[in-house]
Amino acid sequence: MNAIANTLSWTDELSLNQPQIDQTHQEFVALLNELGDGLQAAACSPLAVLPIYQRLLTHTDAHFAMEEGFMAATGFAADNCHSKQHAMVLDVMREVLVHTVTTQDLAPMRNLLSELVNWFPSHAEMMDASLVFHMNQVGFDPATGSVSEAALAGAAPISSCGSAGCG
Ligand SMILES: [Fe+2]
Ligand SMILES: [Fe+2]
Repeated sequence: MNAIANTLSWTDELSLNQPQIDQTHQEFVALLNELGDGLQAAACSPLAVLPIYQRLLTHTDAHFAMEEGFMAATGFAADNCHSKQHAMVLDVMREVLVHTVTTQDLAPMRNLLSELVNWFPSHAEMMDASLVFHMNQVGFDPATGSVSEAALAGAAPISSCGSAGCG
């Protein structure tokens, strides 16, 4: 039986050369690994891992909100597919929190951790990388929120995430 991956190593391949997003992604990976360690610990219990999970959920909420703020500032429609994927992930994370608190059953959290470890590199490589590309294209400065008005002038709101294969 193949071992299910529940940790993720930060590598240069995950870097998108955008400081705010890279910093947030490194923190996200560290929290995933902290949760993985907690779930593997001999003394693992819902009481022990729920605080880690809640920090991961709070961080992920802020992580996605930051990216969606960048999207809003650079001409994306509110219901673009990148934001929809974020919303789906957060919905599942919240469902798992409720399930764990209610039943003390850690199986869904273990499954979700594996899913997130598998999901994150491709999300970063496609959707987040496309966002960074677009931010660079329109001259967006996250520190000031300024953008090249000329680059956005007359452009329709973007509803795709801009990654290959996305309509
Ligand atoms: Fe991200
Ligand atoms: Fe994202």
